[in-house]
Amino acid sequence: MIGSDRMAFTVAIDGPAAAGKGTISRAVSAHFGLAHLDTGLLYRAVGRKALRGGDPVAAAQALAPEDLQGDLRTAEIAQAASRVAAIPQVRQALVEFQRQFARRDGGAVLDGRDIGTVICPEAEAKLFVTASVEVRAERRFLELVAKDPSVSRESVLADVVARDTRDAERDTAPMAAAADAVVLDTSEMSIDAAVAAAVELVERRMR
Ligand code: DC
Repeated sequence: MIGSDRMAFTVAIDGPAAAGKGTISRAVSAHFGLAHLDTGLLYRAVGRKALRGGDPVAAAQALAPEDLQGDLRTAEIAQAASRVAAIPQVRQALVEFQRQFARRDGGAVLDGRDIGTVICPEAEAKLFVTASVEVRAERRFLELVAKDPSVSRESVLADVVARDTRDAERDTAPMAAAADAVVLDTSEMSIDAAVAAAVELVERRMR
């Protein structure tokens, strides 16, 4: 068990856009008292800087906590994040911070695309959370339309497909399930059931 002995224990949660990684990661982090890092936010912050005319590599190298402020969860920033994430020097600039976070005392949950494969191959628990593209697009549509009623289902589906393809097909650290990851398909699962399955996996790995 971890906890009072403060040793490192990493939960790596990877998967495509809108599969439920964020919800599951936050729940696992709260359940076990582990720190949580949503690594997508790092790429989104770099993507936002690129949209504003900045150089993505320089932005990644100088990324600061204040860059994560404001609304990074827009469709435009998601696409920009996926584009800058394909640049090897951008990924390289963000590796060390993520590795330090993953191995911090007391344990950590990181969610992203390459956590179990590249950032922390030694993670004690690895999950690859996925769902059908239709289900994921519908979930993302419901999230985005609450903020912007002009959003269409078709455009959200096209965005999700474009992002998945780019994230899975890039040369550097493509999105992939680690060979030792447990795959959790949430297409037909409630949030509670998906969280329960993730918690059970982490509990097994802690024993
Ligand atoms: O998880 P998210 O949707 O917030 O991620 C936004 C983009 O950032 C995603 O399309 C690809 C990129 N990303 C990545 O390449 N590697 C990660 N570990 C996390 C995100």
